[in-house]
Amino acid sequence: MSVNTLIKRITTNTLQDMKMRGEKIAMLTSYDYSLAKIVDEAGIDVILVGDSASNVMAGHETTLPITLDQMIYHASSVVRAAKRCLVVVDLPFGSYQGNSKEALNSAIRIMKESGGHAVKVEGGQEICESVARIITAGIPVMGHLGLTPQSIHKFGTYTVRAKEEAEADKLKKDVLALQEAGCFGVVLEKIPAKLAEEVTASVRIPTIGIGAGPGCDGQVLVVHDILGLTKGFKPRFLRQYLDLYEQIGGAVKSYVSDVKASDFPGEKEQY
Ligand code: KIV
Repeated sequence: MSVNTLIKRITTNTLQDMKMRGEKIAMLTSYDYSLAKIVDEAGIDVILVGDSASNVMAGHETTLPITLDQMIYHASSVVRAAKRCLVVVDLPFGSYQGNSKEALNSAIRIMKESGGHAVKVEGGQEICESVARIITAGIPVMGHLGLTPQSIHKFGTYTVRAKEEAEADKLKKDVLALQEAGCFGVVLEKIPAKLAEEVTASVRIPTIGIGAGPGCDGQVLVVHDILGLTKGFKPRFLRQYLDLYEQIGGAVKSYVSDVKASDFPGEKEQY
């Protein structure tokens, strides 16, 4: 029996049961094999191969430029590492907004070519037809409401969403619409904690918050942010556990100085 068969994989049903039991869901992003292996082995429930790869991996200012092919590359690297957690993959900007057939084709490519277990899409009622069509093909879909970075040029800013009643009311309708369309969960990004708590109580599916307070069924953060790799990015919702930017910089400086001083390789570091 291989090790893989001994590990019980987390599924969308597991997340549903966790919500029922009141057990919080821990989700983090990952985009490559090495980090995803550490994240999975450390006990994360869900890895999101987020289109934030566009920012943290490729250095773009927004999530808009990343392509479907690039998402598939990142996702397949993560899938090879993740033995236990559920792997959710973002459908990138431009790969699903056109129509439901395009959305389905993009989702099928993600599943077939990366081996991911589910896809995530941004938006509410306006994308429900696409959500339902993707689900008809047997592909689990996660929604994403509140601050939806693929619409940054419509919003014009990354500030908190749904503070006003009209936008909060729309968000409440959107989350119900996504649930009715068949989503297995929804990310709530940067909305007031009270609203997120209310929305969480109003739906059967798990809510995963980022900057949405403690009332959600789970939390998600960008792994590079919690490790302190994204220097200078310190939003209020972020808890930074390490300062790897400084630590890695220090290690590289030591290596450079060892090489320059002919101190590396030493006697035991050669053949
Ligand atoms: O792309 C991403 O990393 C995300 C999370 C911030 C939720 O969508």
